[in-house]
Amino acid sequence: MRNDFKSWAKAHQSLIETSLVTLLPTKELLPERLHDAMRFSVLGGGKRIRPLLAFAAGELSEADEERVTIAGVAVELIHAYSLVHDDLPCMDDDILRRGKPTCHIEYNEATALLVGDSLQSLSFQLLAEYHLADTPKIQLNMIKLLAQAAGSRGMAGGQAFDLESVGKTLNLPELEFMHIHKTGALIRAAVMIGACCGNNMSDVQLKSLDHFTRHIGLAFQVVDDVLDTEATTATLGKTAGKDADNNKPTYVSILGVKKAHELAEQLRLDAYQELEIFGEKAARLRQLTDYIIQRDF
Ligand code: IPE
Ligand code: IPE
Ligand code: MG
Ligand code: MG
Ligand code: MG
Repeated sequence: MRNDFKSWAKAHQSLIETSLVTLLPTKELLPERLHDAMRFSVLGGGKRIRPLLAFAAGELSEADEERVTIAGVAVELIHAYSLVHDDLPCMDDDILRRGKPTCHIEYNEATALLVGDSLQSLSFQLLAEYHLADTPKIQLNMIKLLAQAAGSRGMAGGQAFDLESVGKTLNLPELEFMHIHKTGALIRAAVMIGACCGNNMSDVQLKSLDHFTRHIGLAFQVVDDVLDTEATTATLGKTAGKDADNNKPTYVSILGVKKAHELAEQLRLDAYQELEIFGEKAARLRQLTDYIIQRDF
């Protein structure tokens, strides 16, 4: 089963890579430097976990893989934009990302800002341009889901809360709020949009899927916090120990490493519970849940 997951993940990661290569503007197009920086920031790195979640959710609704590929690319572009901006000096001030210099180090800050802006626009362009759902109404809802997830009530709002929290000791509900928004929102969108590419799901199924995303979204950032203290810069491809250096409240700084691990394990069980109604069809989502908790980078 483990090997089966590895080869499934590899095949779908390369599907996403190939599509990103094709869908991003080429370096030869004007303005060349901006397009070069966009490709530098998106291609050849990253776990592509959000597109993988979209594919796995698409299995629940028997979605066409070509549709899910575009939906996964759209979510990955928003994610890549969020990383480029997250690394800027005015945010986390990081110099290393996915084993390479961050965008503003390789190019400059203004370019990094514009890369983020352009990736976000391209994401929504793709969602509007391709035929991704059975009805226009469902497809419009996909666009709305991603817009909400990326905006001030989602990822961008979570990032604002993160920056306001520097040097503060948050309580657990506040920490959860921050993580659910800055990271959980886009993970939720990846799953829900992937499912929207296929057959309609019942309200009960959609509710369970939604609850599932809450658990894995939070778990994803809890594990990210743990890895920041436990893993090395070489393994992570980004600077380890940066949260403590930047005085960020995290699950590790508030709960300690042991309790953070325990919370991640509890969230895995909670996530599994929500998948029960889907039976075997949710096998990939279960494997991805395990991967999110057990990954080492
Ligand atoms: C890192 O996300 C930023 C967070 C939201 C925690 P990933 O760990 O998915 O980063 P890549 O895409 O694999 O580089
Ligand atoms: C980033 O959280 C969340 C987003 C980019 C939206 P982090 O700041 O913890 O991510 P890393 O650790 O730099 O990848
Ligand atoms: Mg950050
Ligand atoms: Mg960061
Ligand atoms: Mg982090």
